Amino acid sequence: MFKKPVIVFEGIEGSGKTLHINYLSSYLKKNKIKFIKLREPGGSINSEKIRKLILNDKSNFNKFTDLLMYLAARNENMENLIKKNYQKKIILIDRFTDSTLAYQHYGMGMNYKLISLINNHITKKIKINLTFLNLVNSKNMRKRLSKRKKLNRYDKFKMKFYNKVQNGYIKIANSNKKKYKIINSNKDIKFNKNQVINAVNKILK
Ligand code: TMP
Repeated sequence: MFKKPVIVFEGIEGSGKTLHINYLSSYLKKNKIKFIKLREPGGSINSEKIRKLILNDKSNFNKFTDLLMYLAARNENMENLIKKNYQKKIILIDRFTDSTLAYQHYGMGMNYKLISLINNHITKKIKINLTFLNLVNSKNMRKRLSKRKKLNRYDKFKMKFYNKVQNGYIKIANSNKKKYKIINSNKDIKFNKNQVINAVNKILK
């Protein structure tokens, strides 16, 4: 259906999105299918610089400043990486526009219309074909975060915040069910890995 789709992985901390994007990358490599993989914030050189600023646990930016930086980081990725590779290679993105709605709007209460307007402006030249929304319960999330050697500034919010963010993600996914595949990250990893590969193979056909 889509030869060179844009595939996004979303979810809160500890939801397994990075594990799945890495597994899918290895699968594509093994099958000699061309792709690029990037994360947000981060990805391109300038966007990685912005990532360091936002996520450093000594930073104390105002939440609106954070929002502007997440969007700025996205714009750098669009201009320097995504546009160039769009429809030439599969593009895998670890977090994208939905992260900003989920964290900055549903989590922090910032204006939905404003975020959508800028998100849409930055990404108007491309279409996302499939988004994996990885869901995790509070117990597993805590367990997984406790295993991390280093926590960044956004790994340290109260559980109530992550619940709001995850519920926001679910609202977003429910508004466009066709483009979202929910992965229940509390289930068996092997089962979930297969779910991801099968869903990708289905859109590549
Ligand atoms: P991660 O790379 O470990 O997922 O960390 C990135 C953090 O940044 C994560 O807590 C989610 C947050 N974030 C936002 O709040 N808004 C955004 O638009 C993006 C891309 C990430």
